[in-house]
This record gives sequence, structure tokens and C-alpha cells, in this order.
Amino acid sequence: MGLKQILISLPRIIFFLACIFLSFLQTTLVSAERETYIVHMDKSFKPESHPTHHHWYSSIVDSLNNGNDPSSSSLLYTYDNAIHGFSARLSPEEVENLKKSPGFVSAYRDRAVEAHTTHSTDFLSLNPTTGLWPASDYGEDIIIGVIDSGVWPESKSFKDHGMTNKIPAKWKGTCEEAGQEFDSSMCNFKLIGARYFNKGAAADPNITISMNSARDTYGHGTHTASTAAGNYVEDVSYFGYAKGTARGVAPRSRVAIYKVLWDKGAGANSDILAGIDQALADGVDVISISISINYKGMPPPLHEDPIAQASFSAMQKGVFFSSSAGNDGPHLGTVKNDVPWVLTVAAGAMDRSYGGTLILGNGQTLVGWTHFPANAIVENLTLIYNKNFSSCSSTKLLLDFSPQGIIICDETWPVIDQIQQVTAAQLPGAIFVSNSSVQLFELGKISCPGVVISPKDGYPVIEYAQSSEKPLVSIKFQQTFLGTQPAPVASNYSSRGPSLKIPNILKPDLMAPGTRILAAYVPTSPAGFIGSKVGLSSNYDLQSGTSMACPHAAGVAAMLKSVHPEWSPAAIRSAMMTTANPLDNTQNPIRDNGNRLEFASPLAIGSGHIDPNRALDPGLVYDATPQDYVNLLCSMNFTKNHILAITRTEAYNCSNPSSGLNYPSFIALYNGQTISSTQKFDRIVTNVGDGAATYKASVIAPAGSEVVVSPDSLVFGKKYEKQRYSLTIKYGSNKQGKESFGEIV
Ligand SMILES: *[C@@H]1O[C@H](CO)[C@@H](O)[C@H](O)[C@H]1NC(C)=O
Ligand SMILES: *[C@@H]1O[C@H](CO)[C@@H](O)[C@H](O)[C@H]1NC(C)=O
Ligand SMILES: *[C@@H]1O[C@H](CO)[C@@H](O)[C@H](O)[C@H]1NC(C)=O
Ligand SMILES: *[C@@H]1O[C@H](CO)[C@@H](O)[C@H](O)[C@H]1NC(C)=O
Ligand SMILES: *[C@@H]1O[C@H](CO)[C@@H](O)[C@H](O)[C@H]1NC(C)=O
Ligand SMILES: *[C@@H]1O[C@H](CO)[C@@H](O)[C@H](O)[C@H]1NC(C)=O
Ligand SMILES: *[C@@H]1O[C@H](CO)[C@@H](O)[C@H](O)[C@H]1NC(C)=O
Repeated sequence: MGLKQILISLPRIIFFLACIFLSFLQTTLVSAERETYIVHMDKSFKPESHPTHHHWYSSIVDSLNNGNDPSSSSLLYTYDNAIHGFSARLSPEEVENLKKSPGFVSAYRDRAVEAHTTHSTDFLSLNPTTGLWPASDYGEDIIIGVIDSGVWPESKSFKDHGMTNKIPAKWKGTCEEAGQEFDSSMCNFKLIGARYFNKGAAADPNITISMNSARDTYGHGTHTASTAAGNYVEDVSYFGYAKGTARGVAPRSRVAIYKVLWDKGAGANSDILAGIDQALADGVDVISISISINYKGMPPPLHEDPIAQASFSAMQKGVFFSSSAGNDGPHLGTVKNDVPWVLTVAAGAMDRSYGGTLILGNGQTLVGWTHFPANAIVENLTLIYNKNFSSCSSTKLLLDFSPQGIIICDETWPVIDQIQQVTAAQLPGAIFVSNSSVQLFELGKISCPGVVISPKDGYPVIEYAQSSEKPLVSIKFQQTFLGTQPAPVASNYSSRGPSLKIPNILKPDLMAPGTRILAAYVPTSPAGFIGSKVGLSSNYDLQSGTSMACPHAAGVAAMLKSVHPEWSPAAIRSAMMTTANPLDNTQNPIRDNGNRLEFASPLAIGSGHIDPNRALDPGLVYDATPQDYVNLLCSMNFTKNHILAITRTEAYNCSNPSSGLNYPSFIALYNGQTISSTQKFDRIVTNVGDGAATYKASVIAPAGSEVVVSPDSLVFGKKYEKQRYSLTIKYGSNKQGKESFGEIV
């Protein structure tokens, strides 16, 4: 018999922690007697006697308790760019008094938020010779503001080699001087700004602030920022997996960091609003925000959603706003950040997978999934299949059994639990046979030397272990496989439409890579585990979530904005949506991990997978102005003040309410009882191609419906000319109440 040993080479050991599975963040806020409120004000009411709005808001807050209370109400932030108003610690009585102040628009309680690479640029076909990278100079003149958990400034992804010193003149931001373990010398021509916002978090007993500066100790912000615009870093990997050169989608764009999430990714709305407010004042071109507001597990109503409100201001100022769809899939109606003036990004998996190779003593080899974060050497160990312990469901049984070799765990018990039991029993290794591994592949980490294989592959292995006299197995870890098919695939966790807030606008808008993305990470938070106690640090980590998809889209938007500075945020979004690819790498419609690999519906993937090079030249765009969005809000059941809280100014009015927004997608909602009904959509397209062009419509109608496009041909004489068309959808009975979908090209 050959070698019999397990060698584990340990990278830096930094922590002793329990075995965890990476998942999503959920936090809630404490309710104290005095609570933080976000208050919208109408600035036109500001008396002349107050030199600034800040002065005015301070005097209002000071006046609220008539000086009766020594632990008096306090102003946290004044806002002027994202919304007009302020946040303050107020008692219920003070809020009632506030409502009587002239200029009061609305107020709501601060709430908790939810935070939700490097092959991805290849997978997106970005390349130095043609397309969006060279056309945009890799996004060099663009500033991306990342609202997240801060940045690890020493990360190589934020070094400025290759960056010019021509920071755009409009930049007014700064690298904040006074912060824990952070000073302005840490910024450079890549990382041009770093600020932090903690007043809301500090007022919340449930949020801990252990690093009081823009420095990231959580990892999420470093990961998202480097995904959007990280510099080139050679030879990175996640413990040997996904080896290669790291770079962001827009590797020459500048990054400005706004830290609003604190320990464990917890944060407060008032801080998020302050971060966006500052980013808009500083002059960013694109905002990337992988955070959503948690409101009893549901998206908050519009008038209590600061991200929805602040993003309206961003849109008005021409700042592109990329946001994550949320990680609450695959149930319908779970999409977050679903307002029509932002880009809402769903997540999918790429054509890259990680794993291990099994070599059986009989010469058979097969491939399974693993990320075990070390170079474990398993060579010619005994392969053990014992029916009594095959479920690997109990640490105690496994310890009693104490197998001297590699144990096979069959699919009679949930694999995630099996991995924990095998880890706790500190077995030399295991082969897990699982027929339900989607969640593991998408989100799991593995902390024991093990490989997960399918039942189809598993039966021959069990057969071999049972029939051979001396069954042996070798396992090679740290393997990366490219060209996985089908890809992309919609991720199970990615939140699904329709929007419950504004159901007649289809959300999410498109899908971008979000599963198993390698990007920069913080060395202070473990990126992997060996056994149940040993945490390992890594400067690059594989993470999954719509949080990872959003900065991909932000990077693409940055480069589109660089090439087409005259395009509005709506035009940029339209270019990305109408050129998104609905097909996978087998040339079939994209499939859905959340629905047994059936074809994915637009409620999961929007218009399809983002295709940066094609977005460069979309031909036609569906544009929209701020007033168009206001007209939509006016057609809904909002009060005047709810609308004013979003628009901030009376300059927009409700004289022309319209539920028909000029959006690059269509959704018709009807109840299952309807026998036959018709819905008409009017659209205006702008020719952004060079010169004259004729477009003919071709339609694939959703099952059970008829679609008529009129006129079915549009003739443009010159660039920027606009033409109208209408699309009428007539649907019959659909008793199952299932969604169906089609396309217009
Ligand atoms: C494992 O055993 C096989 C068959 O005996 C042998 O050919 C092979 O070299 C061994 N591998 C190692 C790494 O010892
Ligand atoms: C704050 O945290 C404590 C402990 O986890 C929890 O019991 C409490 O409900 C939280 N408060 C709020 C308002 O969520
Ligand atoms: C399985 O368990 C039974 C009952 O405890 C025992 O008799 C048998 O020997 C065990 N089989 C193996 C292969 O360990
Ligand atoms: C997986 O296998 C178990 C045990 O054979 C079975 O009960 C279960 O239905 C299977 N699940 C799927 C999704 O096929
Ligand atoms: C998808 O996610 C849901 C919710 O977390 C989970 O219940 C379900 O098992 C997952 N589906 C698959 C195929 O993993
Ligand atoms: C519209 O809002 C009013 C006042 O809030 C409410 O009474 C009414 O039920 C709402 N109507 C619909 C259709 O939601
Ligand atoms: C409403 O807005 C439109 C377009 O800006 C403007 O022409 C009209 O005068 C406004 N109406 C009122 C009542 O302010």
C-alpha cells in the first residue's frame, strides 16, 4: 500500500471560532424611548433669519422639548443632497410637536439594514482589444461611490499603479483624517475618498462599532469595491482555488468609500442616507449599494425607504445608481431596491466551479465540489462505506466508529449537517453523496477535507468500496474548472419579482455574476475554516450574493458613462437591459437554480445576463426624465407629502399622472379568473446609433397571449431622433396563475 497520510499546510491562523456557513445578514434595531427619526422638510419654508438649512433644522430640534429634558433630543445629520431634511433622536411627543413645524413633510423611524472575483471579467467577455474596456479607457475618468462596510486600504486591489494623477476636477470628496487606524495617506489615485458615518449606529445599542473609521473589518465593502473597480493584482486565489489575476470590472475607475455598515454588517438608515448624501455632494458618477432596508422581512413602503428616496436625487443629478435585488429568493415578490429609477441587479453563477478530483484504486477518476481551504493530501487511503454510519448524522456515532480512512456519507441526511458532523468528529476526510447541493454550491464553505459528489457518481463509488477487498482513494484539492455548462444560471437565493411596491414595473432589471465571486477581502475576518475552531485569513475571498452582482453592474455603468457622458441614468440602464443576453453558454434560455433548472423567468433574471460590450452600442434607448417617474408616482395612491419626500421639490407636479413609464421591459398583471383582457403600453425609443436606421419588431408572445406591436417598423432619419410605438398584449385564461414570458426584439 502507498502513502497513508493527511498533510495540511496551514496559511495564517487568526481566529478560533465555531464552524459557520456563510449566509446572509439580518439585523434589527432596538427600540428605546428616544429613537432616531429621519425627517423630510420642505426647504422653501426656511425663514430668512436662518443662514443655512442646518441652522434652521438645529433650531427646530432644539425647540421641540422646550428645554424641559436635560438628555435632550439631538440632531444626528442634516441632509441636503439625497433628501431635504435631517435625522435626530426624538421622543414620540417631540415627533408630534415636530409635525406642527412649518415645512414639515414627513418623518419615520430609523431602521436596520441588510447587506446582502476574478474570472467574471472574462465571463463578461471584457477584453483589451475590442469593446467596452478600450472604448472607455477602462473607466478612467469615472468615480464610483461604494456605500458599504468600508475598505481595507492596504489591499493590493486599491493600489494606484497604472492610474493617472488626473482625478476629475469635479471631485470634492476627501479621505477623512480622524479615524481609528486610518489616515488620509492611505488614499491614492485609485482610492480617492474614504468617509464613515456612525451617528445612527452609535445611537443603537444593538450595533457595535469596533473600528471607528472607514477601515473595513467585515469584508463586504472591500469585496464589493474591488469588484467594481479594483486594480490589477497578479496571482491571487482563494486558498489555491480560482487562481489568477484579480481586477475590477472597471479597473481604471476611481473608488470613493462611504462606510455605513459596522460590526457584523449592521447599520442604520440614517447613516446610509448620510453616506449617499455625502457621495452626491462629493461628485461621484456612479453609486454601488449592496444593501437593502429590512422592514419586518418585507421591503419598506416607499415613504420609509431612504435608499428609494436618496436614489431619486441621484437620478436627478445624473448619478447612476446600481443596487442589489436581495437574497430572499426563490420566492416571488421578494425583490428589494425595486424602484423604477434605480438599476436592480439579480445574481447568477458563472461557468467556473471549484472542486476536487477523486482517484479510486481501480483507476476510476471523478470530480466533485469542494473549497476545503488547504492543500490536504489524501493519497491511497482506505475508502470506507459502512451502512450503519453512512448518514454521517451524529458526531458521537462517527467518533465511536472512528474510521481509519475516507468515509462515504450517503444522501440520507442533509449534506450541510453531515459536513458539520464530520468536521466536529475530526475525521481524516469524507466523500459526501448529495442530491440537493444547490445551496452548498452557492453559499457553503467546507471545513473538513471532503468532496461532494452527485448520487449518479456516488453509486459506483459505494459499489467499489463494498466490492473491493482493499478499496483505496486519493483526493486532489484546490482544483478550478472552467467551461461549466450551463452558465450563467440564476442563483436560488437571488430575490424575485414582481415588485410589491410598484408592481407594474418589471423588476429585477438584469442579472450579473454573483455566485462564488473572488475579490479582495479583509485579513481580520476568517475567509475559511479548518475543523471547527481554526479560522484562516485570506486577502481574497469567494463570496456569493446579489451584493456581489451589483458592483459588476456598477462597473459596467461607469464605463458606459465614460463613453457616453450625455446618456441619462435611464438611458444607461436601457442600454444594459436591451442588450442583456437571455441565453446561456449552451445557447438555450438561461436556467434557474431556484426552480430545478427550468428556464428562468424575467422575475428571476430581468432582461437576461449583463453583456457589457453589446451595451456599448444598443441602437435604441428608452429614456425617462424625473417628471416621468413623478407621473408614475402620481398615478399611485401616495399622499402629496409622500411624493414630496422623494422629489424634494414642488417643481414636479401631478398634473399628468401616468402609470405608463417609458421602461425597457413590460409586465402585465392579471388575476387568474380573467377570461380575456387587453393591456396597452406606449413607448418612445431614441436612436443613439450613428445616423439613419430602420428597425423592425419581431415578437415572441408569452404563452397564452397575443402581442401586437404598432407600428411594427420604425424609421429614424438621424441620431437622437425619437419614435413612438405601442405594444398591446391580449391574454386569455391562464387558470394555473403561472407567469409566462416572451420577448420583443
Ligand atoms: C496509490 O496506489 C497505486 C496502486 O497501488 C499506485 O500506482 C500509486 O502510485 C499510489 N499513489 C500514491 C500517491 O502513492
Ligand atoms: C436587540 O438585540 C437583542 C439581543 O439580540 C434583542 O433581544 C432585541 O430584540 C434587539 N432589539 C431590537 C429592537 O431588535
Ligand atoms: C451495524 O450495526 C449492527 C447492529 O449494531 C452490528 O451488528 C453490525 O456489525 C454493524 N455493521 C458494521 C458493518 O459495522
Ligand atoms: C434525495 O435522496 C433522498 C434519499 O434517497 C430522497 O429522500 C430525496 O427525495 C432526494 N431528493 C431529491 C431532491 O431528489
Ligand atoms: C433555495 O432556497 C430556499 C430558501 O432558502 C431553500 O428552502 C431551498 O431548499 C433552496 N433550493 C435549492 C434547490 O437548494
Ligand atoms: C388610498 O389611500 C387612502 C388613504 O391612505 C386609503 O384610504 C385607500 O384605501 C387607498 N386606496 C387604495 C386603492 O389603496
Ligand atoms: C406642472 O408641471 C408642468 C411641467 O413642468 C408645468 O407646465 C405646469 O405649469 C405645472 N403645473 C402646476 C399647476 O404647477
